[in-house]
Amino acid sequence: MATESFVLNVAEVIEETADARSVVFEVPSELQQTFAYTPGQFLTVAVPSEQTGLAARCYSLSSAPHSGRHQITVKRTVDGYASNWICDNLKAGDTLRVLPPSGIFTPKDVDADFLLFAGGSGITPVMSIARTALEKGTGKVVLFYANEHESAVIFGRQLAELVEEYADRFTVVHWLVSLQGLPSEKQLGLFASYFTSYTAFVCGPAPYMKAVTNALKELGFPRERRHQEKFVSLGGNPFGDVEEVLAAQKELADADDADDEQDTQPAEPAFAGPVAVEVELDGQQYSFDDWRGEEVLLEFLESKGVDAPFSCREGQCSACACLVLEGEVRLLHNEVLDEDDLGEGIRLVCQAKPVSEKLRISYNG
Ligand code: FES
Repeated sequence: MATESFVLNVAEVIEETADARSVVFEVPSELQQTFAYTPGQFLTVAVPSEQTGLAARCYSLSSAPHSGRHQITVKRTVDGYASNWICDNLKAGDTLRVLPPSGIFTPKDVDADFLLFAGGSGITPVMSIARTALEKGTGKVVLFYANEHESAVIFGRQLAELVEEYADRFTVVHWLVSLQGLPSEKQLGLFASYFTSYTAFVCGPAPYMKAVTNALKELGFPRERRHQEKFVSLGGNPFGDVEEVLAAQKELADADDADDEQDTQPAEPAFAGPVAVEVELDGQQYSFDDWRGEEVLLEFLESKGVDAPFSCREGQCSACACLVLEGEVRLLHNEVLDEDDLGEGIRLVCQAKPVSEKLRISYNG
């Protein structure tokens, strides 16, 4: 079974900086429900590739849901095939295959006070959250935005306009690495120390996110007010047939053992089962008593006709994340959940194998 993807028209391609483009999709009225999103979520896009047929990439939505717009923002990365293809080739009137929005980097309450940290193109989901909080919420919003140079600042003008419009609620601090050096954990902590009651969202390069997260932990930000988004590129193809995806993943795994070692739990014998599985999804309850663990939980649920969410199928995007309420699973691979997420019981259904006789999970957050 293939992930259901949709061909969308590109309405506009906007040059944000020399190296970043925003892509606005036309979503027809019959797909509005399917493409409804919350601020901070991403779209998975199929970029044509001569070598592999297509390259699947996740790009965060930079628009706010209430605007009715579906806009992703893409920054070139050195040797990044898909981002360069988008920046060089894509134009209004083209079409792209796209998967519906997913992701868990989203605020639960838009009326909260927000402390936002963005680094480089990490501004993309943060912009969506900031816009939504300002235009639909009532709290204060503070943004610490780090970039290499001034010319790399994406959404500089839009942020200035928002600061003017919401002068009593929105503060932006720009940090230029070319002038100030990389922000240290201490500097980030000092900044955050003025806003310890706020809800923090962090998106940017890994060392930056680590420094911010450490600083927030040091200040005692509780887990429920500390969110981070990781950028990953998908190795497989969520647009294709599952057989193709699994074959491609196997090839990748075989070719790339060294890298995978770090993130993959050591092999354990599969639980002989059968496991009793209860699932809460979109207000519905499902019960099964015959998961034998020959396949991952996502495939088991699909075989039972459950429309469980997923995107990458590789433990890289968190679109399939669930909360384990009872029992436990073992993850074959995980590049997206951190220790805190795991400690809270969040698991990736696309990577889950059984370890307990009973399992109860919820997708309802
Ligand atoms: Fe991407 Fe499971 S579908 S992590």
